[in-house]
Amino acid sequence: MSIDLVSVCKSYTQGNASISVLNGLTASIDEGAVCVICGESGCGKTTLLSIMGAIESIDSGKVSIQGISVHDLSGSEADAFRRNVVSLVFQSHFLLDDFTALENVMLPLILQGVRSRIAKKRATELLERVGLIERIIHKPQELSGGESQRVAVARALITDASVILADEPTGNLDQENAKKVVSLLVRLAKEEKRILVLVTHNREFLTFGTCNYELSQGFLQTIIT
Ligand SMILES: Nc1ncnc2c1ncn2[C@@H]1O[C@H](COP(=O)(O)OP(=O)(O)O)[C@@H](O)[C@H]1O
Ligand SMILES: [Mg+2]
Repeated sequence: MSIDLVSVCKSYTQGNASISVLNGLTASIDEGAVCVICGESGCGKTTLLSIMGAIESIDSGKVSIQGISVHDLSGSEADAFRRNVVSLVFQSHFLLDDFTALENVMLPLILQGVRSRIAKKRATELLERVGLIERIIHKPQELSGGESQRVAVARALITDASVILADEPTGNLDQENAKKVVSLLVRLAKEEKRILVLVTHNREFLTFGTCNYELSQGFLQTIIT
């Protein structure tokens, strides 16, 4: 399996209280899967994705992604993992305001040390694939919400990251644009044979998944569609 979660427990402490979010969660995700994880607000979706993205630690259990023991990574190993193995798309696009769409999409490659000419070529190709070739010199404030999110999708796909982690990537969009952005993300992930893990409260997106789970009470349950 490409992603293996085994008995993952995660709690947060706040003052004297401990909030238990994941209670021994176990799941496996195959190479090339589109995995949609649904759950109510507050059930731990962002926590789970942050754990897969080596942003949050766990209390116990195992998180293995592409053979890497994510729970065991040192600080610098986690940095490299986030730069090279996984790619994140968030509810807010987090584009840099002072940079054009093209520059924003190039950035992950520049951070990997790729030459700017090559990064520019690849970023242009991706912006064309997300239907924004006419907007490459626009800055985020000159783009609509849906366009900005498509730029964020292009940015997430520019490196060779084999796993795309998307956290409510359409949470700020109207229904029509939300569906467009998710179907674009799913199509590109499939074309490039990447694993896509999409967490959402929107059950409509289950139709896009090849493997679907419900997150509830700190556990994942397979949804058979
Ligand atoms: N850094 C934190 N410190 C304390 N509690 C947190 C923290 N992050 C999330 N939580 C709590 O953990 C639970 C799960 O949060 P989250 O993973 O953001 O859920 P979701 O993304 O499904 O809405 C919530 O009850 C939330 O309040
Ligand atoms: Mg969340």
